[in-house]
Amino acid sequence: MRDRVLAGRRVAEFNRLYTRDFDRDVAIYLDLASKYPGPVLELGCQTGRVTARLAQAGHEVVGIDTNRPMLEIASARVEPWSERGRVMDFDLRHAALAERYQVCIAPLYAFNSLIDVEEQRLYLRHLQCSMRSPGIVAFDLFCPLSFVRPEETGEWRVIEREVEGSRLVVRDRREMLTPLLERRIQAFRIDGSTEHESETHRRYLPPQSAASLLLESGFESVRWLDGYDLSTLRPVEDDARPQGPFMVIAEL
Ligand SMILES: C[S@@+](CC[C@H](N)C(=O)[O-])C[C@H]1O[C@@H](n2cnc3c(N)ncnc32)[C@H](O)[C@@H]1O
Repeated sequence: MRDRVLAGRRVAEFNRLYTRDFDRDVAIYLDLASKYPGPVLELGCQTGRVTARLAQAGHEVVGIDTNRPMLEIASARVEPWSERGRVMDFDLRHAALAERYQVCIAPLYAFNSLIDVEEQRLYLRHLQCSMRSPGIVAFDLFCPLSFVRPEETGEWRVIEREVEGSRLVVRDRREMLTPLLERRIQAFRIDGSTEHESETHRRYLPPQSAASLLLESGFESVRWLDGYDLSTLRPVEDDARPQGPFMVIAEL
């Protein structure tokens, strides 16, 4: 039990460091937050990377996640702005939230963590019930490595970074177990520690499938964009095939 708790904390700290400098997406969330009143709901806030940035910029924000060690880090991260930022353990697969939101975001592939289509449907139905019109949802969705760099699929890639004075060395391997299901293994060392592993599964959600699910759940005007570039915002074409991470945006 204690080992499991320690392992969970280690993976959470690894994720905090690993995503520490990723901020290409922040501008788009700040932009959405400034266009609608009320608090922003962040789905799958993990270690609070985006939650803290929104709170720091003066927005009210609530981050939800189900991973306790990640939430502990997120809570400490938003603490300096606790009058407007908070995180909580909440799973939208099970119920809707009591408060109603107009901006809901799922940064850095949070929605891809839902593996089963029925749980995606439940999640979206509860999300729709947790929102007020006019509202907007923005899902950042991953693109399989096999679309972008097929030669690297199933191969170990080594990533080395200096983060907050710590040296992070990560061996990273991604493979598609089925056409839609990716397994990712990240074997990491922090400051020369023993190597530890984090294994995650993500379900690839093609833009057309994301659009169908959102429309079925009561959202409308579904559009998508490449990367975090709002100038590429366009309707979801039948033959849309991403060549990198992409976002799907819908209105309520
Ligand atoms: C890839 S991480 C998100 C990264 C984070 N949004 C960021 O931008 O740095 C996915 C997160 O979704 C969370 N998650 C997975 N299923 C969930 C669920 N049903 N409800 C809430 N959070 C969930 C995981 O615990 C994990 O922290």
